[in-house]
Amino acid sequence: MAHAARGADAVENDAEGLRRRVAALLEAHWDEARGYSVPNPSIYPHLWLWDSCFHAIVWAALDDPRALRELEATLDGQLASGLVPHMRYGDAGPDTWLGPLERTSSLTQPPMYGHAARVLADRGSRPADELLTRAVRGLDWLWERRRTELGLVYVVHPWEAGNDHAPRWDDWGAPGRTRADYDRAARTAWNKARMHDVTFAADGSAEWSSSFVACPAGFNAYVAFNLAELAELLDDAVLAGRAAALAEAIDEHLWDEEEQLWADLAVVGGGASARSPTSEGVMPALVTTDRARALAALRQLDDPDRFGAPFGPANVTRTHPAYDPDMYWRGPAWPPLSYLFWVAFARLGLHDAAAGLRARTIRAAWRSGFAEYWNPEDGRGLGAVPQTWAGLVLAMGA
Ligand code: GLC
Repeated sequence: MAHAARGADAVENDAEGLRRRVAALLEAHWDEARGYSVPNPSIYPHLWLWDSCFHAIVWAALDDPRALRELEATLDGQLASGLVPHMRYGDAGPDTWLGPLERTSSLTQPPMYGHAARVLADRGSRPADELLTRAVRGLDWLWERRRTELGLVYVVHPWEAGNDHAPRWDDWGAPGRTRADYDRAARTAWNKARMHDVTFAADGSAEWSSSFVACPAGFNAYVAFNLAELAELLDDAVLAGRAAALAEAIDEHLWDEEEQLWADLAVVGGGASARSPTSEGVMPALVTTDRARALAALRQLDDPDRFGAPFGPANVTRTHPAYDPDMYWRGPAWPPLSYLFWVAFARLGLHDAAAGLRARTIRAAWRSGFAEYWNPEDGRGLGAVPQTWAGLVLAMGA
């Protein structure tokens, strides 16, 4: 609260205060016995794949050796085939019904372990070879088991994509398109029903679905980006070739000229909603070789008629009828996305844009109470408060 009362500049420039606050947050959510941080002790009491990769990045920004332990814990759940589960279940709590396995989900999530490994190495904590081999196997699995004929990667459940409630999924029949129509229980029931349509390999890894298969622009960008990060770290030509091939497929098949964004591609189910203007449609800027497209997409993050909002990019364009700044993946600003946009800005040398995004995100993190996500118009905290990944603001270097 003390911070809410202070001027914006004071908040943005209080580097020591931010560091202390983030350190306290991670400490409070750390589980020493399990070797990872929960996203939030009551709402999210398990390990989530991309959350824990982001936590490792935050630990690294704190120069804390738990960065390596958290990355190890993430990859420890890997199945025999190579799939890295989207969740490792804690003792109890919600959402432990994600496939035939008792200890982990059968789904996966954005493979952010390639980027995490690279960041840790850059900060002087290079993961051991065994851990890097696991990371490569995770990406091999996606490459070998999850590609369409077009060379794009697909997901078999909305929860694999990271953004599990996007307007892009609307034409798959998910409930909760408007606030009046939204009911968390109904939404969970729908996602649970989607699991009945998933088929599994012998080791429990999810392979296909009879009702929901999609190639999301965001997920494809995350896979290509993590391939590129690991390729760089390991100086590996095969991984680099795959990263380039996937980036090319994304540009060839997903670019939407009208929106100047990358769209999702529906494979089983779905429809035109796959083109809804959500901010994940900017993510291929992380990997494309087409600078003009990257700039056209990234510019929209600061455009008030598109995603540009006072507390960081909205998740849906502000002028779109589906935009609701309070509603989960249908409008709010999300710290992991803001962090990745910051990485994309930096990659393209857009340093002013990166600095502006950083300042807005730091302000919002304080104002929201380091929330899971926040209202991008006024910075009000939403979802789980506090949430570990809000600590990513510390990794957005000045
Ligand atoms: C929600 C988010 C997902 C995240 C999980 C744990 O389900 O949609 O991206 O991994 O919470 O924080």
